[in-house]
Amino acid sequence: MSAPSWRDLLREGAAALRAAGLGEDAQSDARRLLEAASGLGPAALMARKSEAVEPALADAFAALITRRAAREPLSHIVGSVGFWTLDLIVTRDVLTPRPDTETVVEAALAAVPDRSAPLEILDIATGSGAIALALLSELPSARAVATDISAAALAVARNNAAHNRLSERITFIETSWADGVDGPFDLVVSNPPYIASAVIDTLEPEVRDHEPRLALDGGPDGLAPYPHLLAEARRLLKPGGSGVFEIGYDQGEAALALASAAGAAKAQLRRDLAGRGRALVFGFEGAQGTPQD
Ligand SMILES: C[S@@+](CC[C@H](N)C(=O)[O-])C[C@H]1O[C@@H](n2cnc3c(N)ncnc32)[C@H](O)[C@@H]1O
Repeated sequence: MSAPSWRDLLREGAAALRAAGLGEDAQSDARRLLEAASGLGPAALMARKSEAVEPALADAFAALITRRAAREPLSHIVGSVGFWTLDLIVTRDVLTPRPDTETVVEAALAAVPDRSAPLEILDIATGSGAIALALLSELPSARAVATDISAAALAVARNNAAHNRLSERITFIETSWADGVDGPFDLVVSNPPYIASAVIDTLEPEVRDHEPRLALDGGPDGLAPYPHLLAEARRLLKPGGSGVFEIGYDQGEAALALASAAGAAKAQLRRDLAGRGRALVFGFEGAQGTPQD
C-alpha cells in the first residue's frame, strides 16, 4: 500500500475528531495539529497536500489526534492560542483566552478618549494576561498592573508579556482580586470566574476536565465576584475612568442591577456580534464613559 498523502492524513484526522464529537471544529483542529506535528505553516501544508508523508510524521500526527479526540483542549496540545492580535502561551494553569473576551478589549478601547495617553490599567484576575496584554498592545504609552490569586497563572502571564515584548509596561501582583493594590487607574478591567458552580460539571470536557476550577467557579449563581469587584473599581478608578467586566451571556440584567447597587453612574452592556451583552461597562460619578450600544 502506498504511503498516505498529507491530504489523506488531514482527512483521516478530521474524521477521527468528528467521530469524537468535535463537529465543525474537526477540520480546523486537524489542520492545526498537522501544522504542530510538522512545524509547517498553512501555505507550506497546502503546497505539499499531494505528497507522501513520512511515517514518523504520520505517527506524531496520530498521537496528537488521539489526544484531541480524548477532548484535551487544542490550546493545551499546541501550547498557545491567538487572542486579539497576540499569540499567547497556554498551559493547564490558565483559562484558554476566548474570543468572547475580545469584547472586553473592544469595550475598554472604546472607553478611552485618547489612545496615545499614558493610561494606567488594572486587570484583576489576569490569568494568561490576555486582556492586559491586548490593551497594552493597542495603547503604546499605557502601563498595566495585573493580579491573580494563582502564582502558576501569573508565571504564564509573565511569559506571555515577555513573548509579546510587553514586560516593561506591566507589573504582576499575586493577590486576591485587588487586595493591597493602590490606584488610581484610568481603566479597571476583569474577566472573573462567572460560571454557576452547579453548571461546571455540565460543560464540555475540554472545560470541565482541563481548565482550572478557580478560573471558572463564580459561586452558586455565578455572580459572586462582582459586588466586590465593583467596590474595588469604585475605590481604584480615577474620576472619569471606566470599568469593564466580562459577564456570562445571560447575566446582563443581573450585572446591571449589581452595578447600580454599587453606585455606578453609567452602566451599560457591550454586546457581541450575536447581540448578547458580554461586558458590563461602567463608571462612577464624574465618569465620562463613551456610550457602547
Ligand atoms: C475566567 S479566568 C480569566 C483569565 C483572563 N483574564 C482571561 O480573560 O482569559 C479567571 C481568573 O481569575 C483568577 N481568580 C480566581 N479567584 C481569584 C481571586 N480571588 N483573586 C484573583 N484572581 C482570582 C483565576 O486564577 C483565573 O486566572
